[in-house]
Amino acid sequence: TYEKVWLIAALLLIVGFIATITYGSVGLGIAMIDDSEETVEPSELDEDFGEPRVEHVGENEYEAYVIAQTFIFQPDPIEVPANSKVTFYVTSRDVIHSFSVVGTNINTMVIPGEVSTMTAEFDESGEYGIICNEYCGSFHHTMEGQLHVV
Ligand code: CUA
Repeated sequence: TYEKVWLIAALLLIVGFIATITYGSVGLGIAMIDDSEETVEPSELDEDFGEPRVEHVGENEYEAYVIAQTFIFQPDPIEVPANSKVTFYVTSRDVIHSFSVVGTNINTMVIPGEVSTMTAEFDESGEYGIICNEYCGSFHHTMEGQLHVV
């Protein structure tokens, strides 16, 4: 029946999406390791999450605590050394934004009250633009930052 055909078509589409995502995470010397989410109450953001910063947590391992707010990312620039593994913790101080590193597969929604986490490896030095892909207000299109791998 036609219903079955559509069902199979929908399943193939889903498999295709997964394959695309998997394929997308290879290349550029940037490897995504995991994605997870935790929560932080907006009222306790400064206390629990702390200041925007990059911490050196181990040999070649860094943690970047990034806060998005209209219409900036902090810290700016985010600076990490080449040949490092960086875990990004990203949250928002106000509305929904995204944290999207141009030319990489680092791209996550940033939701107030939640911490988006992702880990990436940077083999080579380079400069990347960071943009916001979620409409967040009249200056959404100007919201940008920099990631410097030095
Ligand atoms: Cu922040 Cu669009």
